[in-house]
Amino acid sequence: MASDPTKLFSNYNTPWTAYRDISGQQQDYLRCFEKHAADLDLQDTLTCLSIGAGCGESDAFLISQQMPRLLRYIAVEPDKGNVQELVPRILEALPRGANAELYCASFDDAIDHIQGPVDVVLLFEVIYYISDYSALVKRLKRLLKTGSKIIVSMCNGDLYEPAGIQHLKTWSDLADVQVNMRDLYPSLKLKEITFHSDMHVSKVNVPSLQVLACTMDVDEDDVTAFKRAVKTNENGMLKYQVDMNIFTV
Ligand SMILES: C[S@@+](CC[C@H](N)C(=O)[O-])C[C@H]1O[C@@H](n2cnc3c(N)ncnc32)[C@H](O)[C@@H]1O
Repeated sequence: MASDPTKLFSNYNTPWTAYRDISGQQQDYLRCFEKHAADLDLQDTLTCLSIGAGCGESDAFLISQQMPRLLRYIAVEPDKGNVQELVPRILEALPRGANAELYCASFDDAIDHIQGPVDVVLLFEVIYYISDYSALVKRLKRLLKTGSKIIVSMCNGDLYEPAGIQHLKTWSDLADVQVNMRDLYPSLKLKEITFHSDMHVSKVNVPSLQVLACTMDVDEDDVTAFKRAVKTNENGMLKYQVDMNIFTV
């Protein structure tokens, strides 16, 4: 859980593009989706809800490559800058005749307005911004039916931890999400996937470290401390693992 929820990122100021520019993560995601298409098993998806859809690269890829029968795509994304990229990308990816619904809002504000049931919920790289995992999965339950999937991903561990920046928030890992899911769904099925990604440490700046640390409370001194402390390879890259859990309820 968040060590100090008051330091969570503002819902309306999450410049995901700032991080995308310093990492190869987006491409690594697409490779993972391709490699694990059978585990994801999305071919029969009719309705897909994406929470924190960001700029839509992952969602558009999955829709166009793995959801040929999709009829309804619902996105919840609070950042207006991200939404400007998200909308055209999704409209291009959707199968003919499918509908898109957009909630330019946080999960908390949007969730009660969404009509279920949905076949698949995507939670890619968004869980860091949500302080209460238990409330999240409880509020999603209304939208799910037997056989629905929740796909959650996040990087393994706090990448800035070696920098010892005490005021930055830490987050817990997917094990906490699993505990909450098992409480709600006794016959839950789970598939676990991991892949590796990396980040250009010399390119880290204040906006990208803000995204990494999920807080606005970052300054140039933190960037310097981060660059000094983290271990990079010979190409100046910080390697990290991304965990993805596919829950079927
Ligand atoms: C790290 S980005 C990931 C974007 C996308 N899912 C992807 O994997 O490419 C996290 C996204 O979550 C959004 N976000 C932050 N807080 C949120 C909240 N409370 N509810 C819904 N989305 C949120 C941010 O605006 C941002 O676009």
